[in-house]
Amino acid sequence: MKLLGIETSCDETAAAVWLEDRLTSNIVASQEVHQKYGGVVPELASRAHVQLILPTVQKALKEAEIEKEHLDGIAVTFGPGLAGSLLVGLNFAKAMALALDIPIIGVNHIEGHIFSNSVLGEGPPPPFIALIISGGHTQLVLVHEWGKYEILGKTRDDAVGEAFDKAAKMLELSYPGGPAVDKLAATGDPEYLDFPKGRIKDSELDFSYSGLKTAVLYHLQSLSPEERERSKADVAASFQKAAIEILIENSLKALEKYQIDQLALAGGVACNSLLRNRLKEESEKHGFKLFTPPLNLCTDNAAMIVRAGRFYLERGERSEFSLSPVPSLRLDSED
Ligand SMILES: Nc1ncnc2c1ncn2[C@@H]1O[C@H](COP(=O)(O)OP(=O)(O)OP(=O)(O)O)[C@@H](O)[C@H]1O
Ligand SMILES: [Mg+2]
Repeated sequence: MKLLGIETSCDETAAAVWLEDRLTSNIVASQEVHQKYGGVVPELASRAHVQLILPTVQKALKEAEIEKEHLDGIAVTFGPGLAGSLLVGLNFAKAMALALDIPIIGVNHIEGHIFSNSVLGEGPPPPFIALIISGGHTQLVLVHEWGKYEILGKTRDDAVGEAFDKAAKMLELSYPGGPAVDKLAATGDPEYLDFPKGRIKDSELDFSYSGLKTAVLYHLQSLSPEERERSKADVAASFQKAAIEILIENSLKALEKYQIDQLALAGGVACNSLLRNRLKEESEKHGFKLFTPPLNLCTDNAAMIVRAGRFYLERGERSEFSLSPVPSLRLDSED
């Protein structure tokens, strides 16, 4: 199948092309307009998607050396995400598919993140456990089979990516904060402070990041400006250690509890170097197979969307053209 994928759920305008058995282009236009605000401004994101969607799709088709008339279908994110942003991608996909008389398939963005492990290689065959760690989600998911997901644990408050972004802001680092904290932490002492790990007493696989965030804030407030400047890298390293250790702890518990021997990472925080190194060590120690998507497929992209869409289109599924964005779309119906 020759497929186009479109992703516009947040602040990345992305398009990718899948030709038969492989990815042939993967274009991500990151919106720079949000940098000066230190976070995504929804209205600006929608407007930027409107400007970027056509050139991004054209670039993806050009790089894949395919004419749009030869496409067999379009996969497009329809949730979760910002309503106005989702609307731009979805309407673009519908208009293009109607004009070309080809099907569309709506893709759940979070399911797309899980599929990012299966873009360049085979990826994990279900059943496996996915650790989904992004700007909006922190979940441990048991993938019984593709399309059948059981949420084993999730955050009770902030997502881990959000915690990285907020810590970065407190440390006066650039946005998005995750990569900046990761870089600075590499030069600091993770034993400088023992920040709370966010364990939840009555639920062994859930997470909490609000206490950690507050602890970082209070600690920084207790320092003089000179001390703050001097200990920035140590605070970043201690914060990162606390944020990452609970992800590792709960992932190991889930693998053990459900007797699964494959763990797949997904979402932007899966780029984190401490997490990747620590989980590699743990996988060697405990003998489970670890799947880590390449860095450019961890953060938002359309390659994962076209891969997920291909799975469903090949099974003969398609979405109605009446499909609307679902900003709070979930992975399972009970979550
Ligand atoms: N090296 C890193 N270490 C820690 N966090 C990182 C790193 N790189 C990126 N991140 C974080 O990943 C997040 C972005 O990930 P992603 O693009 O998957 O999230 P999102 O699409 O905004 O949220 P969602 O997928 O839940 O809708 C940001 O919070 C960013 O700070
Ligand atoms: Mg995402």
